[in-house]
Amino acid sequence: MHPVRFVALLSTALLAGLALPAAEAGAEIVIKFSHVVAESTPKGQGALLFKKLAEERLPGEVKVEVYPNSQLFGDAKEMEALALGDVQIIAPSLSKFDKFTKQLQVFDLPFLFDDIAAVDRFQQSDDGKQLLTSMEDLGYVGLGYWHNGMKQLSANKPLKTPADAAGLKFRIQASDVLLAQFEALDANPQKMAFAEVYQALQVGTVDGQENTWSNIYTQKFFEVQPYITETNHGVIDYMVVTNSEFWNGLPEDIRTELEAIMAEVTAEVNKLAEDLNQKDKQKIVDSGNSEIITLTPEQRAEWVGAMQPVWDQFREDIGQDLIDAAKSANTSS
Ligand code: LMR
Repeated sequence: MHPVRFVALLSTALLAGLALPAAEAGAEIVIKFSHVVAESTPKGQGALLFKKLAEERLPGEVKVEVYPNSQLFGDAKEMEALALGDVQIIAPSLSKFDKFTKQLQVFDLPFLFDDIAAVDRFQQSDDGKQLLTSMEDLGYVGLGYWHNGMKQLSANKPLKTPADAAGLKFRIQASDVLLAQFEALDANPQKMAFAEVYQALQVGTVDGQENTWSNIYTQKFFEVQPYITETNHGVIDYMVVTNSEFWNGLPEDIRTELEAIMAEVTAEVNKLAEDLNQKDKQKIVDSGNSEIITLTPEQRAEWVGAMQPVWDQFREDIGQDLIDAAKSANTSS
């Protein structure tokens, strides 16, 4: 053999040998974290912070891949993908669990929470924490609640009283409570994945939708919705969920560290969410694209009254005790 070729072969062999530790590093745990919103939202920021802290504190042991904007999985597929192990962490809005547990429907009851601080108090209560394990039988476990914010109603016409919504088509998340909420207004709700909403509003498949300032701004809904009514009638918050088999199968020291990181990220997201929403509201105001309608106390009372029948429809499924516990998180109650 030509000596140069021999040396080349030898160095390939050496390189292969050197690559052994790299192969061990290949045992790095890869966590795919998929979500449907923009990176500048509370959830988007939370996912990035989780990646940063996990990779800083568990170098070479854990790698987190974040997929925003429904890039990897959209609403329709993410729970199934989590069950199959195609993704390890997702954080759907609480409204999207209604196929999996009836109890979480409590979060969708209209005008239940006065504000996001009340939502937070309920989530931190024993009743709230217990809901994190409400899907254990199905192999899902909640790692925490992340805030987005209170929902506003947007449409292609001004909505001042509930009668203004009658006959309009509204996009809703996949939740039967939200379906009932718009039916109570004599409107036509349509369940639709988040990724499809902008186009549906633009081409007129639907006339309106409900969402947080953060989502209305980052998805550019405000560009195709001339009116936004500041109703704060409900909440969009998230449960960060993982596959319990995957999570329990992690080496204990890694799982403990990831849980500590998740708690830290949760506190951070929940601190910045309200501020992000208020900033995005201001950007919408500054754009001059949408008129923001503020309700008088009398008009607001009309919306509360119109949506109230929804509570009776779901009281049995959710349980009166849980509804009372959630209500008692309001300082006014
Ligand atoms: C929606 O579908 O409107 C929201 O749940 C999206 C999100 O994740 O905030």
